[in-house]
Amino acid sequence: MPYRITPAYESDLPRLWAIEQESFHNPWSNDMLQQEITKPQARFRVLRDAAEASPETSPALGFCLSWVVLDELHIHQVAVTPSLRRQGLGRLLLQDALNIAQKEQVVRLYLEVRASNQAALGLYQSFHFETVGVRRKYYQEPVEDAVVLVYETQAETSDGER
Ligand SMILES: CC(C)(COP(=O)(O)OP(=O)(O)OC[C@H]1O[C@@H](n2cnc3c(N)ncnc32)[C@H](O)[C@@H]1OP(=O)(O)O)[C@@H](O)C(=O)NCCC(=O)NCCS
Repeated sequence: MPYRITPAYESDLPRLWAIEQESFHNPWSNDMLQQEITKPQARFRVLRDAAEASPETSPALGFCLSWVVLDELHIHQVAVTPSLRRQGLGRLLLQDALNIAQKEQVVRLYLEVRASNQAALGLYQSFHFETVGVRRKYYQEPVEDAVVLVYETQAETSDGER
C-alpha cells in the first residue's frame, strides 16, 4: 500500500488518541495531543493511506511527534497502529523526521526510550542512532530506565561549527 505523511489535523484526533492508547504505558490525553497540532515548535506528522483522495478524511495509521528545540529535533513519540506494525511504517515516519531535520538545518535528533522497548530500540538502531546515556528510573508505571539516543546530522551549527 502506498503511504503519505502529512501534518496532523483536528479531524485526526480520535484516531491519534486511539493509537496513543494502544501504544504507550502512560498515554497523552486527547487535550495534550490537540495542543501539539498548533504549537509552533511541534512537528506533528501523520502517516496515511495515499490512495484516499483527501488527507483530511484518510485515517491516521501512525504518527511521529517531534519538537524543534534550538538546533535539535526532539522526538517525543513515534507510534504505528498495532495491526500494521513490522511492515516498515515506523521506518517511513522516522525517515520523515530525518527529512525535516535536514530541511530545518537541525544538527542532531534526540530521544529517550524505555530500556525494555526492543521494537523502538531496533528501529532507532537501524537508523544508526547512538546510545549516549541512561536516565535511571526516568519512567513511571512501570518504573524503568530511559535510554538516551542521538543521531548527528551533517548540518552545521549557526556559528559554523560541528
Ligand atoms: C516502535 C514502532 C513505532 C515501530 O514501528 P513499525 O512500523 O513496527 O517498525 P518497522 O516495521 O518500520 O521496523 C523497522 C525496524 O525496526 C526494528 N523493529 C521494529 N519492530 C521490532 C520488534 N518488535 N523487535 C525488534 N526490532 C523491531 C527492526 O530493525 C525493523 O526492521 P526489520 O523489520 O527490517 O527487521 C512500533 O513498534 C510502535 O508503535 N510501538 C509502540 C509505540 C512505541 O513504543 N514507540 C517508540 C517510543 S516513542
